[in-house]
Amino acid sequence: MQKKILIIKSKKNKSKIVCLTAYSKNTASIIDKHCDVILVGDSLGSVLYNFSSTKKVTLDMMIEHSKSVRMGVKKSLMVVDMPHNTYRNSKEALKNAKKIISKTKCDAIKLEGGKKLVQIIKTLTKNKIQVMGHLGVLPQSATNFKFKGKNTAERKNILRDSKLLEEAGVFSIVLECVESSLAKEITKIVRVPIIGIGASVHCDGQVLVTDDLIGLNKIRARFVKKYSNIEKQINDAALKFKKDVVTTKFPTKKHSY
Ligand code: KIV
Repeated sequence: MQKKILIIKSKKNKSKIVCLTAYSKNTASIIDKHCDVILVGDSLGSVLYNFSSTKKVTLDMMIEHSKSVRMGVKKSLMVVDMPHNTYRNSKEALKNAKKIISKTKCDAIKLEGGKKLVQIIKTLTKNKIQVMGHLGVLPQSATNFKFKGKNTAERKNILRDSKLLEEAGVFSIVLECVESSLAKEITKIVRVPIIGIGASVHCDGQVLVTDDLIGLNKIRARFVKKYSNIEKQINDAALKFKKDVVTTKFPTKKHSY
């Protein structure tokens, strides 16, 4: 098994895993120093392309953005989301996962779903493809984004699915918008690292969408904490540039040939 995967797995019950998304080289190279995992998430569909859901994201879009991200990632484990309708059966999943890995040189891929993915995950791992699972709210198939784990049936299903994914061979699972005590239980029972997003502090690590973290994406989800306000910084820079251009303060001799 790859060294980077073993390092992520060894963090279970020892130290927290830090994961952020990147869709391009410049962002990836800045966050790489601070992350254990960099995810090229299909959230790029809504964040960059204004799609109403991630369903419209294509394999080619994921590959092109991942190629850019690859140039910026030196130390983190790089994981790429397989988009909607690219892993409907084992044959399709294997073909597309191999394509993503060969074109982007990523370390692993991520799939959304539980029980119905067991055979697909087994096929991928048998072919030495590292797989990250994704349970809880599943944006590729969700009809709403309400948190999971409100009732007994939902709790039983997610708990069962997390065990099934572990048995099928995933090296880690993203748990999205899951009630705190259930996330705690899953993190305790499942032996691979659980990386939460809106799934409490009890998980083995946390993931956030970088554009949300830096205030570039106007999302108002409870699980998002804004750590800086890049929107304001871009606005201020553009305003200063505009003033300099209209008053001919820019370019000066220094910026001219
Ligand atoms: O697509 C994505 O960015 C994700 C994270 C939110 C976990 O799946």
